[in-house]
Amino acid sequence: MIKVKDLNIDSLQGTINLVYEDVKNNNKIVDTLKSKKVFEGKSGQVFYRTTEELTYEIFVGLGKFDELERTDLINAVAKGIKQAEKLKIDNLGIHFIKANGLCTGGVTKSIVEGVKLASYKFDKYKENKATYNPDVTILDAPKEKIEKMKGKIAEASNVVDGIILARDLVNEPANILYPETLAQHAVEAGKESGFEVEVFDEKQIEELGMKAFLEVGKGSVHKPRLIVMRYMGNANSDERVGLVGKGLTFDTGGYSLKPSTSMDTMKSDMGGAAAVIGTMTALAKNKVEKNVVAVVAACENAISGGSYKPGDIIGSMAGKTIEVLNTDAEGRLTLVDAITYIIEKEKVDKVVDVATLTGAVLVALGSEITGVLSNDDAFYEELLVAAKRTGEKFWRLPNDKCFKKLYKGDFADLKNTGGRYGGTITAGMFIEEFVQDKPWLHLDIAGTAWTDAGNDTTPKGGTGAPVATLYELVVKHKCKHK
Ligand code: BES
Ligand code: MN
Ligand code: ZN
Repeated sequence: MIKVKDLNIDSLQGTINLVYEDVKNNNKIVDTLKSKKVFEGKSGQVFYRTTEELTYEIFVGLGKFDELERTDLINAVAKGIKQAEKLKIDNLGIHFIKANGLCTGGVTKSIVEGVKLASYKFDKYKENKATYNPDVTILDAPKEKIEKMKGKIAEASNVVDGIILARDLVNEPANILYPETLAQHAVEAGKESGFEVEVFDEKQIEELGMKAFLEVGKGSVHKPRLIVMRYMGNANSDERVGLVGKGLTFDTGGYSLKPSTSMDTMKSDMGGAAAVIGTMTALAKNKVEKNVVAVVAACENAISGGSYKPGDIIGSMAGKTIEVLNTDAEGRLTLVDAITYIIEKEKVDKVVDVATLTGAVLVALGSEITGVLSNDDAFYEELLVAAKRTGEKFWRLPNDKCFKKLYKGDFADLKNTGGRYGGTITAGMFIEEFVQDKPWLHLDIAGTAWTDAGNDTTPKGGTGAPVATLYELVVKHKCKHK
């Protein structure tokens, strides 16, 4: 639980003080620590002490005021929470601070994110569970802002719940989470937070003509599901945003088999699906006044006598034929049918697809920046505005027509790989062939949906990226702050 007060309260077992390196504090202890160079407020520094009343005071460094990014603030809060967890503090205060370029709401949301994400663990399969859920009060908040801050706490908590749901879904292993059970999770999420979910089984998918999608899933004993989620928050508008999430509940590569070292994290190949489900819950719980439809073509890329094979020529819902040169380039095959479906059947005006699509995006941008392709500069700008408000990072790659020849088919309209070079681009542009004239953003989260390293806000496993930014992209808050 997170509360907010305009004063300090002394019934707390501990407090977290966020300290800048270069801003004067009204705190004697901090002055002493700084002058003795014990704790200088440098980014990442932590110090704690016991007070005369036998409570704890935790100090976390923020670095320089001008250099603080939103993510640094979230991380600093998380660092403080991790320290509080070690000290077993259940009831704790965090002193409100000002931050460069952030309004009161922005600081409040960062605190909520830091607190809630630092407590996230996926330990349901462990004998010893280490749940830590402290009561947190934001202290010394500006009196006139308290009501607004309460609203921001509620909103941010719901967004974090969406991030956490996305993480949980990604972390769930593929023997437990397969198309049918992923669909059940979506149905449950819809019931809980207030959006409609329709699930199509294999036969219905066939009737829809989603031939490319079906090819990918046909080798698995776990049958595919098309999951359609509708949240209509604004009856006075016919504008509809479409979100499409890649939903490979496991990707072996198929006959173009992955080496085992690349396969062992492939339960995360439904990271896009997890992100759009998480985003829908955040939007619905916050009763956002927008209309959004999300679609997941969920299946498993497995090997059997019935699997699709390299060289196969397959159809698609849009009618284009595709030569399958690599069964491991399966994501785009499922996505293009989901996109055709969401445009033609759900009548969306804009499409955002989110997919753990290419290893190449890790080579190009590393594991903290999501790769983007778009056919619409203004839509991409909107994404950057949203990203500024969350701290998540995105970088656009060129969809220049010079790449087109790489995935033009020899024996069909298109081929499903364009080779190694520019792999993220050719995968994205393949998808672009199916977006008709709709403004479109393609988010390749193969690098960002999963982390092996882990940090204070994000343990090893699913990250929940880019739920926060998708939420902001749909909401389009008017506040001009970061
Ligand atoms: N799911 C993978 C991409 C991926 C790689 C996700 C690493 C997360 C981490 C995707 O289906 C895939 O296998 N892509 C191939 C495409 C290639 C065959 C053109 C790849 O990146 O190697
Ligand atoms: Mn693959
Ligand atoms: Zn895949």
